[in-house]
Amino acid sequence: MTSKPRIIVTRKLPRPVEKRIAHLFDASFNPSDDVLGADEIIARAEGADGVLVSPTDKFNAEAIARLPESVRIIATFSVGYDHIEVPAALKRGLAVTNTPEVLTNATADLAMLLLLGAARGAYWGERMVREKRWGAWSPTHPLGLEVSGKRLGILGMGRIGRAVAKRARGFDMEIHYHDQFRLAPDAEQGAVFHATFNDLLPHCDFLTIHCASTPETRGCVNAEAIALLPDGAVVVNSARGDIVDDEALINALTSGKLGAAGLDVFKGEPDIDPRYRDLENAFLLPHLGSATMETRIAMGMRAVDNLEAFFAGKTPGDSLKG
Ligand code: DGY
Repeated sequence: MTSKPRIIVTRKLPRPVEKRIAHLFDASFNPSDDVLGADEIIARAEGADGVLVSPTDKFNAEAIARLPESVRIIATFSVGYDHIEVPAALKRGLAVTNTPEVLTNATADLAMLLLLGAARGAYWGERMVREKRWGAWSPTHPLGLEVSGKRLGILGMGRIGRAVAKRARGFDMEIHYHDQFRLAPDAEQGAVFHATFNDLLPHCDFLTIHCASTPETRGCVNAEAIALLPDGAVVVNSARGDIVDDEALINALTSGKLGAAGLDVFKGEPDIDPRYRDLENAFLLPHLGSATMETRIAMGMRAVDNLEAFFAGKTPGDSLKG
């Protein structure tokens, strides 16, 4: 009888996913769900064939070089893979996989929640109720921004960007977008393409970010970009925190240049810039984009499919190329 591949699972995963992993592999789990850190993962991976990691596990080139020789695959439980230096992993001969598609709807739903929550002052309103500061109904008490019929700018028109556009059409929003490449007309569905990010910005009553975090996009929502947005615009981010320059965004929310922001991701999360917590016009969530039971199970199953394919000698469907 051949032995099962040895897998290190770095974070606690939904029960059905862990059950399947336990069935297929000789697996080591993390029931306490503590974030282990690269050193601990490397130590646990001694003699393991693969590691199933999450966005909280940072694998730069140096950590990848220190992974035991026995490890042949890094499967991440996420669509984003900015926490892994993929070229360094591929150079070492490791396979790297992610979990695209299965979280598109949950993340697009969350983007709409951020957009609506930011525009309509959900944070402020919730606090009024909870803190018993809800006075009589008033025709003029802090008023939000109308969403219906407004212009929505989408930075990154991949699967999630297109799913957000689909939802926003239900609010009669006019869709504008920027991506490296223009979509075919049937995928564009009337959305207006802008060849550069700067061209897109003046057309955004709302700007929602759906690009990956790469050296090109990191910090691109900066003071210069925000200056090109219409006054009172709303910025929504459910992609990666480091795409936004926090200093510039906080200044614009404080000065009134921007009307509001809806943020699910932050640079350095969970240690976010503390000034966000005091902003009445920021609607903040703790990286919940894919956080539904259905989606988290689907992500786990997708990561397991990749591992299973790899150990069966096939190329996993979600293999990253660099
Ligand atoms: C991902 O999959 O990259 C998400 O950020 C996790 O929700």
